[in-house]
Amino acid sequence: VRPLRVALAGCGHVGGSLLDLFGERAQQPGDAQPIRVDRVLVRDAERPRPALAQAIARGIAAPDACITDPTLLLSDDIDVLVEAIGGTTTARTLVETALRRGIRVVTANKALLGERGSSLAALARITDTRLDFEGAVCGAIPIVRCVRSGAAGVGITKVSGILNGTSNYVLEKVAEGASLAEAVATAQRLGYAEADPTRDLSGQDAEDKLRILAWMCFGVDPATLKVTRRGIDAETAAWATRVALEGDRVKLIASCTREGDELVARIFPTRITSDDPWARVSGPFNRIVVESETAGSLVFQGPGAGGRATAGAVLADIVAR
Ligand code: NDP
Ligand code: HSE
Repeated sequence: VRPLRVALAGCGHVGGSLLDLFGERAQQPGDAQPIRVDRVLVRDAERPRPALAQAIARGIAAPDACITDPTLLLSDDIDVLVEAIGGTTTARTLVETALRRGIRVVTANKALLGERGSSLAALARITDTRLDFEGAVCGAIPIVRCVRSGAAGVGITKVSGILNGTSNYVLEKVAEGASLAEAVATAQRLGYAEADPTRDLSGQDAEDKLRILAWMCFGVDPATLKVTRRGIDAETAAWATRVALEGDRVKLIASCTREGDELVARIFPTRITSDDPWARVSGPFNRIVVESETAGSLVFQGPGAGGRATAGAVLADIVAR
């Protein structure tokens, strides 16, 4: 069987975990199409990368795969570009170049999709290829698939959620007595946070995901959605600590509601009583509730951040038919 040839942009928390999963998949019995990683784009070629070294040793990645020049990433025999570098500059160029050339793209980049999702999807349609992004919204939770296909209900009226694992983890830790700085540093070490963690704390990352969800649920261009938001700062952290002493929780809740012809989108730290299911969303977990005319209320909950959880969603997109 001809292997599926992958160009991987990024070998950090997500890209490195994906290489591990390729290795684990290759060892499973069955006749799944093999995956071969021709190129791995990074910034620093000298940095030790155990996941890449192991992928090379297992014959999954080419011995000379590691490159730092983005223009060398997309050779003619590539079947899929996997974009896991983040940001909206190099990532945008790579994704647009791949789509223009008819190369399938799988990305976990919510910042790029929140800003350009609609035009990138249009480009994919024009060149008759695919743009998949399950990993971009809430890590391991298969929410994109469910809303995109209509499986989460027809006639969606509201989507709401805890959409950012880092801020959820941080709010929990400060409620337990940690300082805001300590909690953020731990979230970074555990691979939950964005390269720039102010995107997590400010609510920008949750906003990117809310834009994508609104796009999938309501067909709106994600870039044009008007979102009112407040994130987490020292004042919110102190409030979360006080609220915890009174037995309740503070959660960063995002929602987008159809009100007549309008969409009302907001993200705010919200006080929740301890017996409410939202209060039990712990650590880097996320929760999404989709309300629709056909299905009523559907609840999705699971790991929303972390390299391995996200890489699982990326892998599912790569092997999807
Ligand atoms: P990391 O910072 O851990 O990894 C980023 C990787 O991309 C690194 O290998 C880095 O190279 C490389 N890179 C970054 N910029 C460039 C560039 N301009 N040129 C070449 N290489 C570059 O990020 P994550 O793996 O955590 O996240 C990657 C993407 O996945 C982001 O879009 C993020 O939003 C998304 N995501 C992350 C989740 C998570 O829980 N971590 C969950 C869901 C989505 P080097 O190693 O040399 O620095
Ligand atoms: N930084 C993001 C979060 C990663 O904490 O939710 C998952 O998208």
